Amino acid sequence: MLIHKIEEVRNKIREWKSQGLTIGLVPTMGALHDGHKSLIKKSVSKCDKTVVSIFVNPIQFCPGEDLDKYPRTLDADEKLCNDVGVDIIFAPSPKEMYGEGHIMSNDFLTYVTPPFFYVNKLCGKSRVGHFDGVCTVVNKLFNIVQPDFAFFGEKDRQQLIILKKMVNDLNIPVEIIPCPIVREESGLALSSRNKYLSEEDKKEALALSKILFNIKACYKNGIKDCKALTETAYSYLNSNHSLEYLEFRDANDLEEKNIADENTIVFIALKIKNVRLIDNISLGEL
Ligand code: PAJ
Repeated sequence: MLIHKIEEVRNKIREWKSQGLTIGLVPTMGALHDGHKSLIKKSVSKCDKTVVSIFVNPIQFCPGEDLDKYPRTLDADEKLCNDVGVDIIFAPSPKEMYGEGHIMSNDFLTYVTPPFFYVNKLCGKSRVGHFDGVCTVVNKLFNIVQPDFAFFGEKDRQQLIILKKMVNDLNIPVEIIPCPIVREESGLALSSRNKYLSEEDKKEALALSKILFNIKACYKNGIKDCKALTETAYSYLNSNHSLEYLEFRDANDLEEKNIADENTIVFIALKIKNVRLIDNISLGEL
């Protein structure tokens, strides 16, 4: 069932809660692919009712980013959701979420601001204010849907860590369920932004996963020094790549690591032409 209005969602939620049903929420910005689908399926199998939100959230885009050209494919998204048994697709307009005007200004909106230590690094460094926008919209979605479980992908690992921190710090009564990264057979992590890549660019984009898989193999072979592990990346990079970061950080609090261990995540962001891609890998799992 496709719903655009907050009040209509609330009515359904009230009905479900009164029946004692559990509710799963999968927040998305649409242009759904198999990565999103894996989260949705997990929710459908775990919860009595599943709500998928589809909202290209303007306040998490920085000036000059791809807000206007971000892919919007609501019909196809609706079909995918219906095929896997979603109960509500919540697709509000920016006006429904933020009211008239002023939506881009923090003078006129109550924001949820994650701690500086979590946002002054990795994606937060180049995307100033991005995670304020993410936390604010996810908090709003939690208040609208009041889910028991909310599903987020490890693809956006910094986002996942920050949202867990928000839920913990603000005592939000929801359990966050992390979901593994879904990749193409080539290794490329699925992303709505892959739509911006030509076939040639996609080949160049394999550098991200190759670098990460190789670092993990080296780590498993006994190299623990993060500088030495970083150096293994350079042979995968060429003049079509503009590396934004390659960093080793703690899986819980994003503290920098000099010596890699089982609790280390390797984060990478690189640009191919003007398309910015991110990926990460946990050194702890098999
Ligand atoms: P979006 O980029 O649409 O992603 C929605 C969810 O799908 C996120 O939790 C993301 O980590 C997950 N996801 C995307 N690609 C994935 C992949 N290849 N494997 C596994 N999970 C994947 O992230 C956002 O939207 C927004 O910031 C949002 C949380 C909805 C707030 O606006």
